[in-house]
Amino acid sequence: MCGIIGISSNKSVSASIINSLKKLEYRGYDSAGIATLFEGEIKEVKSEGRVDTLEQNFDLKNLKGNIGIGHVRWATHGKPNSVNAHPHSSHNVSVVHNGIIENSTILKKYLTTKGHVFKSQTDTEVIVHLITENLKADDLEIAITKTLNQLHGSFALGIVFKDIPDLIVGARRGSPLAVGYGPNENYLGSDSYALKAMTNKITYLDDGEFCIIKKDQVLFFNEDGIKINKKILKLSSNEVSYEKGDFKHFMAKEIEEQPITIKTGIKEYIDKTNSEINIYNFPWKISEINSITLIGCGTAYHSCMMAKYWFEELTKLDINIDIASEFRYRKNRFKKDSLYIFVSQSGETADTYAALDLCKRNNMKTCAVVNVIESSIARDANFVLPIHCGPEIGVASTKAFLGQILILYILSLKFGSLRNEINKNTYKDKVKELLNLPSLIEKSLLIDNDIQAISSTFNEVKGSMFLGRGFSYPIALEGALKLKELSYVHAEGYPAGEMKHGPLALIEDGMPVVVLAPRDNYYKKTISNMQEVIARGAKVLLITNKSKDEIISENIWETIEVENTNEDLLPFLLTIPLQKLAYYSALKKGYDIDKPRNLAKSVTVE
Ligand code: G6P
Repeated sequence: MCGIIGISSNKSVSASIINSLKKLEYRGYDSAGIATLFEGEIKEVKSEGRVDTLEQNFDLKNLKGNIGIGHVRWATHGKPNSVNAHPHSSHNVSVVHNGIIENSTILKKYLTTKGHVFKSQTDTEVIVHLITENLKADDLEIAITKTLNQLHGSFALGIVFKDIPDLIVGARRGSPLAVGYGPNENYLGSDSYALKAMTNKITYLDDGEFCIIKKDQVLFFNEDGIKINKKILKLSSNEVSYEKGDFKHFMAKEIEEQPITIKTGIKEYIDKTNSEINIYNFPWKISEINSITLIGCGTAYHSCMMAKYWFEELTKLDINIDIASEFRYRKNRFKKDSLYIFVSQSGETADTYAALDLCKRNNMKTCAVVNVIESSIARDANFVLPIHCGPEIGVASTKAFLGQILILYILSLKFGSLRNEINKNTYKDKVKELLNLPSLIEKSLLIDNDIQAISSTFNEVKGSMFLGRGFSYPIALEGALKLKELSYVHAEGYPAGEMKHGPLALIEDGMPVVVLAPRDNYYKKTISNMQEVIARGAKVLLITNKSKDEIISENIWETIEVENTNEDLLPFLLTIPLQKLAYYSALKKGYDIDKPRNLAKSVTVE
């Protein structure tokens, strides 16, 4: 997945392109590039690494031109180097691309026979030459329609032409793309976030559509090349800061923002006076739903898993969970009384979107739990439950995870109450206890000194394990994922009770093992499993909740106690030390915490 920007203006565009590319770096950051049109020539600059490196390598102030496109890359075809960086250009056409062209090998062979010479290992270069070829015979709109129909796979494209120097073409299939409107200039961007500094007037392209952007006009076309009209949306002004402030990293800031995330979620969904959950405009009768399938990727999938435990505890609904990239290709049994919930921070993850699309094509009820409300998933689901945690910039998800699990917990409580599957008083008590969660999270955040000291151990070893049972198991998986993402240390999340069936063989002297054992129904069982790993030489970091009762075990290496609350809410608190463990471990290694290697925030390719 990559980031795309395009600007057609009455003034020089390179400075605005650079600013937008910096905002888009969360989509990819292994190379960056810009192409402008100036005095009848395509001027192209690109380099490996970040946008900062591009700025250091070239005198971008002198990159002139009132029309330009820019790109930040997350490599799919071809190594991340300056040759494979976008834009890719022929003598006449320059292209930036997000997505994957599945028939690029066949098209390359065909274009080579026509005399086209390829410089890079990318699939994108095929698009450049295909348009160049099609423009030999046809006018712009026909050539674009023809090219798009010849491409298989997914794409968002920005295209400029040496011989048609007053416009940019944008096209979308599968990967998101937005058009923005400004004074004497118009824009193309992978998302509204990249355009927000310049405009709040946006139109989203739908799949199969393309557009022609001039400084004073935007035209839209459907996949047959027929002109269409599209609505202009006004974006809400978002006051939440996109800056790091006094924090060293966005991740550190986002971890500390979690009490606010929870407060905002509570404010949005809970009537404090009546201890009641309000989910307005829910489009179905509760009796129409007998099963729920939750779908997501990465951290969002762990949220789905967490929700399964809560829904099963609080309702009698049939609950399934699925990883989006698996769900989309399986033979699913779609049932009329099922609700499909798609969980995604960005709302743009390609696999999650494809799973949603599949459900829609099968006329299923779809609901999205998302952070970015202007996103594709939010726009296309039947019903949306926003998590309202503000922009999350750090690639490793933190506050969005707590935001997602809050909404899913609230939903499970509401379903339990509407279906009369939890007692009225229990329901009210649970809602009331939820109101204390922000302050409990605030207190649980005050563990930096302890965690900093512990984190070095995780850097010195070849692997670590994260164990939990019941409600703590999805959190163990999330803790292991955080350490992998940030610290590049092998970390495996496992159900504590399953260790004896294989992974126990991995335990050796001094191996750090994080055991999540809050004092819930599983406590004694988990402690027994903990003793089994201690007996085999593991250095156990026990994470539990505060209690007057002593911990019933010996030889524990370190213990961290989070605040005390009811069993349902402990997963929120157990998450905090794991996020900080990963953060400090990566900090000590000097790694790029907000942009870990090989990853991206929004994964818009399969
Ligand atoms: C990427 C991010 C993860 C995230 C996953 C799903 O892999 O690096 O942090 O959990 O995508 O993203 P979504 O936006 O759908 O929640």
